[in-house]
Amino acid sequence: MADALSEISLTRRTVLQVSGGAAALAVLPEVVGSAYAQAPTEGARDAVEVSFTVNGTATDLRVDPRLSVLDMLRERLSLTGTKKGCNQGACGACTVLIDGKRVNACLALAVMYDGATITTIEGVADGETLHPLQAAFIEHDAFQCGYCTSGQIMSGLGCIREGHASSAEEISYWMSGNICRCGAYPGIVAAVAQAAKEDRT
Ligand code: FES
Ligand code: FES
Repeated sequence: MADALSEISLTRRTVLQVSGGAAALAVLPEVVGSAYAQAPTEGARDAVEVSFTVNGTATDLRVDPRLSVLDMLRERLSLTGTKKGCNQGACGACTVLIDGKRVNACLALAVMYDGATITTIEGVADGETLHPLQAAFIEHDAFQCGYCTSGQIMSGLGCIREGHASSAEEISYWMSGNICRCGAYPGIVAAVAQAAKEDRT
């Protein structure tokens, strides 16, 4: 990591020296992003064997111990419905259910959950039939750009399952770890409330 950081720092300095101003700033996110985005590979010397049930499918993998559940899902299993927002536990875009509980996948190391059952947004619908919470999101216009939506839905499922969805205030409180930059909160809360009500009836 120290090497990677010094490399980034050198690259950034070089870019700023050469280009200056807006051109350099346009390049910088790509330079930094490419260095940080690389997930640890399965070829690492201390890679370990892990097994999961992901959306009902038994999955065996050899993973670097530093690999997060988020990178495992997106980069090893091509389940890109789970989004990477902050990659540091602050936005909730990466929320999945692990053994039925809400987890920020960016903060969870895959090796910590060996043997677990993981549900992602790809495992929520029943074939072509949307889950009632997914249908409620559409009905209530509970998204705009959609980047936070898979995390919101997974969190909403957890919220309902935990029994924390009996009022708008309660839903807002227990969903507060899921940020929506588009401000679609009224629709999100209404969708979770509707699905919770249907769940009880
Ligand atoms: S990407 Fe995991 S909390 Fe933001
Ligand atoms: S719909 Fe855009 S961030 Fe939530």
